[in-house]
Amino acid sequence: MALIDKHYIIERNATVLLICSFLVVTVGGIVEIAPLFYLESTIEKVEGVRPYTPLELTGRDVYIREGCYLCHSQMIRPMRDEVERYGHYSLAAESMYDHPFQWGSKRTGPDLARVGGRYSDEWHVQHLINPQSVVPESVMPKYGFLMNRVIDAGYIEDRLKTDAMVGVPYTSEMIELAKADFAVQVEPDGDYEEMLARYPKAQVRNFDGQPEITEMDALIAYLQVLGTMVDFSTFEPLASR
Ligand code: HEC
Repeated sequence: MALIDKHYIIERNATVLLICSFLVVTVGGIVEIAPLFYLESTIEKVEGVRPYTPLELTGRDVYIREGCYLCHSQMIRPMRDEVERYGHYSLAAESMYDHPFQWGSKRTGPDLARVGGRYSDEWHVQHLINPQSVVPESVMPKYGFLMNRVIDAGYIEDRLKTDAMVGVPYTSEMIELAKADFAVQVEPDGDYEEMLARYPKAQVRNFDGQPEITEMDALIAYLQVLGTMVDFSTFEPLASR
């Protein structure tokens, strides 16, 4: 009897079939899963990616609270139509400090993963106050009230601590100085050098043009940093090096 004919033993005996299936799944599972235990991280490290500044992080919380993710994704797929419209496809490292991530699953509006620097702050203020004034056919709701919501940042140290607990590398210095760093990011005349040393290339300016620090400032600071941390003029994926 040829070896292949012995297969009928498995086909006719449910218990043997079950045991053999179990063995195959076990071996397959080990082969796929075991290597992951020996990797420190499945995310390729990319230069330029840093934790959010306290102000950007606050803006991100406003973004989540207002449900912007229900209409906007933040994940550019490596397909030609997306790359030509939005820019370089998203890297895993770009959302490694996002808890929770904002990839989204619905695009009523455009993807925002690389919206940073695409428009001026004034455009964002105008667009958030009344989207239809800049894009007449827009179905985006108005968010003008953010201009009146002043942030006192009393909780900001705890906010950074919480992210540190889930692995964002906020140092104890960053946590201690969170409140000062928060305020100085909207003070172009302030002493922001040290803040920039902690958060390289953070953008310092009065984002909404008003004297107080409002949720509008925070949200625009967040929108303006999206997709700008990695310098794609020099970036090369590890696999192609
Ligand atoms: C009901 C769905 C909806 C919600 C909710 C929504 N948007 Fe939009 N958004 C849109 C649509 C549609 C557009 C495209 C038209 C326009 O520019 O207004 C858009 C455009 C934008 C743009 C311009 C993007 C580009 O590349 O031109 C930004 C920035 C933006 N939205 C930010 C936000 C933020 C921040 C929030 C939450 C505070 C938000 N959106 C909530 C639907 C939405």
